[in-house]
Amino acid sequence: MQQSATTKFVYMISVTAALAGLLFGIDTGVISGALPFVIKHFNTTTSQAEYVVSAVLFGAFFGTLMGSYLSKRLGRKIVLFISGIVFTIGCLLSASAQSVDQLIFYRIILGLSVGMAAFIAPIYLSEMAPRRFRGGIVSMYQVMVYLGILIAFISDTYFSYTGAWRWMLGIICIPAIIMAVLVLFLPRSPRWLILKNYKQDASEVLHKIRDNEEEIERELKEIEASVKSQENGFSLLRTNKPFRKVVGLGVLIQVMQQFTGINMTIYYAPKIFGLAGFAANAEQMWMTVLMGVINVIACAAAIFFVDHHGRKPLLYWGYLGMAISMCVLALAFALGVSSLVIKLLAVVALFLFLITFAFSSGPIAWLLCAEIFPLRGRDFGMATATCANWICNFILASFFLTVLDHLGAAKTFSIFAVFNAICLFFIFYLIPETKGVSLETIEKNLLAGKNLRDIGEEI
Ligand code: BGC
Repeated sequence: MQQSATTKFVYMISVTAALAGLLFGIDTGVISGALPFVIKHFNTTTSQAEYVVSAVLFGAFFGTLMGSYLSKRLGRKIVLFISGIVFTIGCLLSASAQSVDQLIFYRIILGLSVGMAAFIAPIYLSEMAPRRFRGGIVSMYQVMVYLGILIAFISDTYFSYTGAWRWMLGIICIPAIIMAVLVLFLPRSPRWLILKNYKQDASEVLHKIRDNEEEIERELKEIEASVKSQENGFSLLRTNKPFRKVVGLGVLIQVMQQFTGINMTIYYAPKIFGLAGFAANAEQMWMTVLMGVINVIACAAAIFFVDHHGRKPLLYWGYLGMAISMCVLALAFALGVSSLVIKLLAVVALFLFLITFAFSSGPIAWLLCAEIFPLRGRDFGMATATCANWICNFILASFFLTVLDHLGAAKTFSIFAVFNAICLFFIFYLIPETKGVSLETIEKNLLAGKNLRDIGEEI
């Protein structure tokens, strides 16, 4: 299919903004490789080592709040730029830390930028994308998260031969600098421009990113109508019941994502590989690379399906797949992971889980949250939902090992299996299908008091 110049331009913009996901992924990936050397260098206790890892989540929580404050005032583009700069500073400081306390503090700074980036990139992407392929464009963000994890892993492996943890933590400022520079060339979001009353500028941006005059006129009118109300953020929350409901939905979507068990599974993967007989370092390394490549491919597949088949079918298949794979994992551990067949079963279940997450909840949680909030409450809603993501991630990371110790792997994975199965009901009853409708139609339906699951219907 021949693509127009505007479509190509939209793709270029989107790849640049989605680089924010790369920062998120790189940081997630890089610390696991650097940690053993950091522990050795500073002779840290177990809890200090845990703080080094979770400091980013802590910072990300506040980064999201900061991002929501700044995005309203300075715009989406500037927040993306700031997050690239803060990430660069955070990396360089972390690489030069002279004590473990310093390192923890610098990783909180890094977290500020990760929180800002994770919150603002999906909003910017959804506001720039034409509605026909908005799903694919916002999903690019998650593909970048996975690419980031993979890049970090490759870089970690390279530096691990010499134990150069300072290089591992420092070199990742390169993609952040590239992002910060490229972001300067991005247009501002037309929705933010109208919110700030810069109508002429908004119209100019729309002329660059839309194909025809009719589409531009309609979109301009729709956006203008949606900013008429004077209420926003907190005051909307106090006075507007549909807004309260949709903020609740955003939080639920992110809780559903974290309680799939994704980060615990990633964390536990080396152990599962070890149990299955892939114990040597080189084998583990290749398994991790394979995991990364599979994630990128499965998530890229979502880009093609999400605007064709819609968000909900991918969510149904994804959560069903995750529930089944968690059951199989639990079963393998209950049976004792002793025979070769059971070992391989555990590895297959692990990969199935990662694939089903990567084409469903991974990208779609961010996509839906960037779509469902009305423009005047978008920063507030997205920030609340994103903070819910960090809090759940933090809670699970803090308690996972304790729960695992008390209940054992079989029971722990069964709990995740049950949770994934329950989510199928939430998807059916509460989640709307937002494929192909404009953000403003979703907003109109919501504010007219429609049921949450119906706010994606064409009017
Ligand atoms: C989740 C993260 C997760 C990442 C990689 C994101 O969508 O929010 O918690 O680490 O995907 O799987």
